[in-house]
Amino acid sequence: MNFLEERIVKDGVVKEGNILKVDSFLNHQMDINLFDQMGEEFKRRFADKPINKIVTIEASGIGIACIVARHFGVPVVFAKKTQSVNIDGEVYVAEVESFTHKCKNQVIVSKKFLGPDDHVLVIDDFLANGCALQGLISIVAQAGGTVEGIGIAVEKGFQQGGRIIRNLGYQLESLAIVEGMDAETGEVHFREQ
Ligand code: G4P
Ligand code: NA
Ligand code: NA
Repeated sequence: MNFLEERIVKDGVVKEGNILKVDSFLNHQMDINLFDQMGEEFKRRFADKPINKIVTIEASGIGIACIVARHFGVPVVFAKKTQSVNIDGEVYVAEVESFTHKCKNQVIVSKKFLGPDDHVLVIDDFLANGCALQGLISIVAQAGGTVEGIGIAVEKGFQQGGRIIRNLGYQLESLAIVEGMDAETGEVHFREQ
């Protein structure tokens, strides 16, 4: 097991409905030393890529992205979620459906902060169905930029997102891939990587 898998075993909590709570270290209270290790690992895995920007989505991607960005020495842009429909042409827009929360959001990024010269590393905390990621990929494409890679903390390997994104040809690196979990025993099973 790697450092993140070990931390999930130690402090993650398995809930009914295949939900993994990691709010004591990842997406509510945040362990910055852990994020720093994640940044070091992503830097190693994407060492050959000319990354000049990190793109993430609010809310819980932001903290991780900021610490990861220190390892690349690049700025972070986060996509904002909005329900408003009157978009003014100054922003890139993508529709993102959340299966967990059963709602649709538009996510937007200002055209000022993303363009054809950008070589982007996309960062997020969770990958489940991949809707959020596909929205971010669409926004980078609208900008004429390049997605150089995608770094995820926890991928739910039994949902479809990872397969879809890898089939599109992206280098997707997930630090922990959960293949299954048991709310009765609290056990979490990881994919061998
Ligand atoms: P998708 O983006 O991969 O399609 O994910 P999905 O719609 O299934 O998930 C919706 C939200 O729930 C996402 O956060 C995602 O990170 C989160 N999520 C999915 N599965 C789990 C889980 O097992 N545990 C935890 N803790 N979160 C999970 P969000 O609402 O879009 O963003 P945020 O505001 O929380 O960052
Ligand atoms: Na997220
Ligand atoms: Na989340």
